[in-house]
Amino acid sequence: MQEGLANEIAGYEQRTPGSKRSHARALERIPLGVASNYRAYDPYPLFVREGKGGHLWDVDGNEYIDFNLSFGALMAGHSHPAVVRAVESRLRGGTAYGMPHDMEWELAEEICKRYPVDMVRFGCSGTEATMHAVRLARAATGRERMVKFEGAYHGLHDAALVSVKPHLEEIGDIHEPTAIPGGGGIPAAHVANTLVATFNDAGSVERRFEKHPGEIAAVICEPVMMNVGMCMPEEGFLRAMRELTRKHGALLIFDEVKTGAKLAWGGACEYFGVEPDIVCLAKSIGGGLPLSAFGARRAAMEQISQRKVFHGGTYNTNPISMAAGLAMFREVLTRDAYQYVDRLNRKLLDGYQRILRASGLKAYVVGAGANGVLMFRGSTVRNYRDWLEVDTELWRHYWFAMVNRGVLAQAYGWDEQWTISVQHTEADIDRHLAAFEEVAPALAQAQRDRQQVGAAR
Ligand SMILES: Cc1ncc(COP(=O)(O)O)c(C=O)c1O
Repeated sequence: MQEGLANEIAGYEQRTPGSKRSHARALERIPLGVASNYRAYDPYPLFVREGKGGHLWDVDGNEYIDFNLSFGALMAGHSHPAVVRAVESRLRGGTAYGMPHDMEWELAEEICKRYPVDMVRFGCSGTEATMHAVRLARAATGRERMVKFEGAYHGLHDAALVSVKPHLEEIGDIHEPTAIPGGGGIPAAHVANTLVATFNDAGSVERRFEKHPGEIAAVICEPVMMNVGMCMPEEGFLRAMRELTRKHGALLIFDEVKTGAKLAWGGACEYFGVEPDIVCLAKSIGGGLPLSAFGARRAAMEQISQRKVFHGGTYNTNPISMAAGLAMFREVLTRDAYQYVDRLNRKLLDGYQRILRASGLKAYVVGAGANGVLMFRGSTVRNYRDWLEVDTELWRHYWFAMVNRGVLAQAYGWDEQWTISVQHTEADIDRHLAAFEEVAPALAQAQRDRQQVGAAR
């Protein structure tokens, strides 16, 4: 490990003994000591005491400006007043009914105003939304296979947990990637039904359709791949997906779990002007409460009405999540909010660019809507295989150095990105940039040292 990174981790351990203790305790009873594998990292993760607005405090009382925001689920920021009001006002009226109520159609109407869908069903997680979307597409087409992109994450169900983070040695030809299960317990039949293609390579999708004529139910895609840092679709790529799926009688599913509430008022559909067949929403639509939705045009959703496709869930539309969702759509995710967050993001991205130029650090920033990221690669990441070349040691150096200066620059992981919330301020952005300005020269030096070592070998 490089000295700069080792020093930052030593500083982290010095500042966060409480997190270390909590993690040791958690390890006894909880695998990896965390509730989701994504939350685990060495030497141990920060344990949180509380979050407020755009800030977070760990169990040792250290304060951070929070640009992780629960892996992007909090464009509202922590405990947004409108969300708190809505939740508090419902808390004493029951927390689950397992029966219909008026907030269901009210929220469905809000969603239909923004996204190109006529009908909606709700759930509690992004995993559920994409799982039901895939089932709906299979039922609508009478086909079983689906196409997903290498490196894309769509949640934890068997069809989706394929080729999420496969190793370079096992992934085969970039034009026809090998499907690799994302861990044990995934039946081979599911892996066989999930065909893998390369993002920004329409030809790799076309080849799948040619090789499996009449067998592919859907192409599922994240319009901006946000589980490889941030990988933007190239001009025409999403339109090509639209045309290819139509041509071959398959459906196009937009997994807008990350983009839906954060890219624009009408999500990626509006931002890119492409209309998919099914839209999946989660994360920021619930203001931090468990809420997801999938929607489609009437004909596809009527399969549920006609009882051809089954959908259910005890906690679906619990009044607390629904109240939060309504507050989000009516009071928080306004057109003005997108302008505000966009302005802060532009300031952050411009600041990073200026500091990159001044420090000589070879990396780039990319962003859109509420999200952005510093990518430790010389040129733009176009697909998963490019992302595999990100300098992960330098990224860790960056992340711990920022944390030690009171800035959670993004969720832990070089596959993640930052989120800006409506509760962040210009001063928060200035502090983020001041921390990066302090850290960038050491990163540039570490990069030069590594290049020299590499050249000497
Ligand atoms: C694009 C995308 N789809 C689906 C999911 C799954 O959402 P959840 O964690 O709510 O199940 C995620 C989670 O990070 C995601 O990023």
